[in-house]
Amino acid sequence: MSDRFATRLLTWFDAHGRHDLPWQHPRTPYRVWLSEIMLQQTQVSVVIPYFQRFVAALPDLPALAAAPRDQVLALWSGLGYYARARNLHTAAQRCVELHDGDLPHDFDALLALPGIGRSTAGAILAQAWDDRFAILDGNVKRLFARFHGIEGWPGTPIIEKQLWELANAHLPHSRLADFTQAQMDLGATLCTRANPDCTRCPLHEDCVAFASDRTATLPTRRPG
Ligand code: ADE
Repeated sequence: MSDRFATRLLTWFDAHGRHDLPWQHPRTPYRVWLSEIMLQQTQVSVVIPYFQRFVAALPDLPALAAAPRDQVLALWSGLGYYARARNLHTAAQRCVELHDGDLPHDFDALLALPGIGRSTAGAILAQAWDDRFAILDGNVKRLFARFHGIEGWPGTPIIEKQLWELANAHLPHSRLADFTQAQMDLGATLCTRANPDCTRCPLHEDCVAFASDRTATLPTRRPG
């Protein structure tokens, strides 16, 4: 399926998406990786100044690997979730030992690094190399739960598996970096958790939640 979903989302992205994020210019694997780790638990507007300070001090992976841990933690100071910084540092050192100082261009090798899960590995491959990999963070789960009218808490393994299948099924055959960013941008700006702006959404004509007036109850809340 390379379908209206991808075509419409990419057309919307060209006009309304974010094209000026600092990790997009230049878009190197190291900068994409760093941005994805920072963005795992922190929103874009908060991340931007930290990202810029971090890459000014440690501009590439070998510089990060060689930096003292205290410097890495100082650059992270204020972002929170400091395990992310420790994992990042350890992962950089492993890349120096195992991958000639480069981030590996390989899904399983990325997944083996500390701090990189399935969605982050996909986000790195798609954005750094335009590889055909899906992502599934909270924004994207919401997008597909609504678009396909999937009932059930996305934290359940069965629902999560279904959402991964849908995320994979909608992947286009080109422009994977843009497609990845477009999903995050749509989730952050129009397909928001509260009060989604469906009339502006490029996907609303095909959206099951919109058609059945279920955007307020999808994705299903965590039970209990
Ligand atoms: N969250 C994770 N990755 C992101 C990205 N590239 N843009 C916006 N939010 C994100």
